[in-house]
Amino acid sequence: MRGIALFGKVHLLDTTLRDGEQTPGVSLTLDEKLSIARQLDALGVDVIEAGSAVTSEGEREAMKAVAGEGLRAEIASYVRARTDDVDLALDCDVNSIHLVVPVSDLHIKSKLRSDRDSVMRSAVTVTEYAKDHGLVVELSGEDASRADEAYLKSLYKAGIDAGADRLCYCDTVGVLVPEKSFEIFSRLSDLPAPVSVHCHDDFGQATANTVAALRGGASQAHVTVNGIGERGGNTSLEEVVMTLESLYGIKTEIRCQELYSLSRLVSRLTGIPVAPNKAIVGENAFTHEAGIHVHGLLADTSTYEPIHPETVGRKRRIVLGKHAGRSSVELALRELGIECTKGELAEILSRVKDLGDKGKRVADADLQTIAEIVLSIEKEPKVKLDEFTVVSGNRATPTASVRIIVNGAEMLVAGTGVGPVDAAINAIRRTISGVTDVRLEEYHVDAITGGTSALVEVWVTMAMGDRSITARGAGADIIMASVEAVLEGINRLMQLEEDG
Ligand code: KIV
Ligand code: ZN
Repeated sequence: MRGIALFGKVHLLDTTLRDGEQTPGVSLTLDEKLSIARQLDALGVDVIEAGSAVTSEGEREAMKAVAGEGLRAEIASYVRARTDDVDLALDCDVNSIHLVVPVSDLHIKSKLRSDRDSVMRSAVTVTEYAKDHGLVVELSGEDASRADEAYLKSLYKAGIDAGADRLCYCDTVGVLVPEKSFEIFSRLSDLPAPVSVHCHDDFGQATANTVAALRGGASQAHVTVNGIGERGGNTSLEEVVMTLESLYGIKTEIRCQELYSLSRLVSRLTGIPVAPNKAIVGENAFTHEAGIHVHGLLADTSTYEPIHPETVGRKRRIVLGKHAGRSSVELALRELGIECTKGELAEILSRVKDLGDKGKRVADADLQTIAEIVLSIEKEPKVKLDEFTVVSGNRATPTASVRIIVNGAEMLVAGTGVGPVDAAINAIRRTISGVTDVRLEEYHVDAITGGTSALVEVWVTMAMGDRSITARGAGADIIMASVEAVLEGINRLMQLEEDG
């Protein structure tokens, strides 16, 4: 572990707000950039690349706001090798610039229509200009992995002589492999300045290449939350941190318990969903269905989990379906506070598998219903829908009114929302707000059939205190299916609370 041992601490530059925002279709507002920057700072990254000052007036306002937030992290702007770009970065009050110059002949000739000497001269001029204006300079070689290494090194040396504080090697189109990455960074480690590694994931190698570079001699990794970025994306922050922490035993000074909430925030604000099977932050990363796995987990969670979910701010989830076994159903029932005999358990398991064979996932509320039927303890719902109206349209604020019976008392409440579903859910939550504190944590819709009359299935995760439960509603009407799912979740949570 040459590089890591050499430099001690691994530094992280997060570029979610610059390279991550270059993901097609993503554009963050000032407030959104600010809230991501605050969470990145709380997580403990060293540098936040807040954007590119040349992009737009709005981008500059957002970057200025991030720079003015008084965060502990260094705030950087991307700039090209132009002094007017540096002036725009200075207007944003950033601490540093990420000065990017193309270094491969392909980029120099085809993109810039320039030559190696001119690129070198402008890198030096702009570095000197930025240093004269008090900025920290990270001089970055774009497409370095396809550049002539001798030229790259001479450009880096010229940059250091001009005052560059750090250097960066970009694998712009993700063509490195780990062995090569290790060797290159070993060779670069004789330069008298720290070198960063900036990788892309076109071949799914970004994390491996980044970690290999750190082992070879890199002292800083460029990363994005959830690995978002152009094409296949960038190196993912959470994967690098947890690989270093868990597989190499290296402390990163990152507050790992905050990784999941940051991932959710970035996914929500960018509108880029996280793949269920994504390492560390994907929905399935700590979810188990197979009975044989759950059996192992009950004995020792490390049988089927490489790290404890709590390490990254997550919880283990047991999903029931056709692969469920006795152990998983028993565990799920225990979580719901339901006790049963061996015979009853066998009957519940067989009904769960029946549902699974029909292609269904079994929500907590479904399991509870099955258990209640098998144990003959059907309970009267605490919250019952009596009447429900919703108004929506291009000139109307979506409004819903619901008449609901809560613990026998009738309530008529209206709610508004961003759409009819939101209005309906808000109205229901208002009816029970005086009785109990239930939160809607997740909402998800699947179209089961096609066409405008498609059958939809709505999945919700509802929470009360630190207890959460999944519930489901289905039908041709998405609003009614949502209402059904939310009421089911509320009833189950209230029942669990009553049962203690
Ligand atoms: O991937 C890349 O080369 C970049 C540079 C512009 C720094 O993001
Ligand atoms: Zn990049």
